[in-house]
Amino acid sequence: MIFEILTLFPDIFSSFLAESLIAKALGKKLIQVELVNIRDFADDRRRTADDRPFGGGPGMVLKPQPLALALDSRLNSPGPKPLVVNLTPSGRLLDQNLVRSLAQNERIILICGRYEGVDQRVIDLYADMELSIGDYVLNGGEVPAMVVIEAVSRLTPGFMGKTQSLLDESHSYGLLEAPVYTRPRLFRGMDVPEQLLSGHHAQIAAFRLAEAVAKTREVRPELLDRPGLVEETARAFNRIDSPLKAKTDNSLPALKADQEISPELESNPLAAEDQPAAETTVESSETKPERS
Ligand code: ADE
Repeated sequence: MIFEILTLFPDIFSSFLAESLIAKALGKKLIQVELVNIRDFADDRRRTADDRPFGGGPGMVLKPQPLALALDSRLNSPGPKPLVVNLTPSGRLLDQNLVRSLAQNERIILICGRYEGVDQRVIDLYADMELSIGDYVLNGGEVPAMVVIEAVSRLTPGFMGKTQSLLDESHSYGLLEAPVYTRPRLFRGMDVPEQLLSGHHAQIAAFRLAEAVAKTREVRPELLDRPGLVEETARAFNRIDSPLKAKTDNSLPALKADQEISPELESNPLAAEDQPAAETTVESSETKPERS
């Protein structure tokens, strides 16, 4: 997976790329990150990359010419066809489904806007999509670019130590992750749930799934409205082979309480056809106007 980042502040990425799993993935060449300073494509001595907005108003706008030249330099370089993404609070909201779709691309160019944003004509000419990491405004696209790189890289085979840790994590069933604990067993008078101490993998899986449902219901109940979630979870729960599963079974009726689940599925969730989770594909567009 190749990420190319167009930014006015490449140094912001230094420690992000030099630490932990991202540094390891770079070392193992599982991912590649190229930093491109937009100012290198300015044509004046002061390397100006921004200007005041037409029509007035506060802030500055990224000038079209240096950014377009920076994009051309990447698009004319050899390699797979890249997906061009503009990072902006007015873009499509990033979630784990979208992360999965982004991970289908071999090469992603991330445009980090600053100030009031990017001249619209560059977006119209070059961007395949606009992406927001949340409904709040940051100083620029650099932190969002790190979010995208990290979330997408985690799905690259070999990035995570154990594939299982990916499967268990928040949002993989569309649920939040169950609470986790580590040593010591007793901390300030509080014990760890006994189900986690049994060493019985199926029992632990059943307990965690039940906890994940309970946590999602409490913190993000709207996530339980996703079509197919009830069926998926019921199926996952049914696959768990544990004599103690009944102990945690009570979270599923809670999940089902205000949602329709077919009687057939309820009696035998494994009989249901596997339905893939609703997913969108994000690919670089072939229908963009000519980039010149
Ligand atoms: N730039 C500034 N805020 C942003 C956000 N929330 N998402 C993506 N890019 C941004």
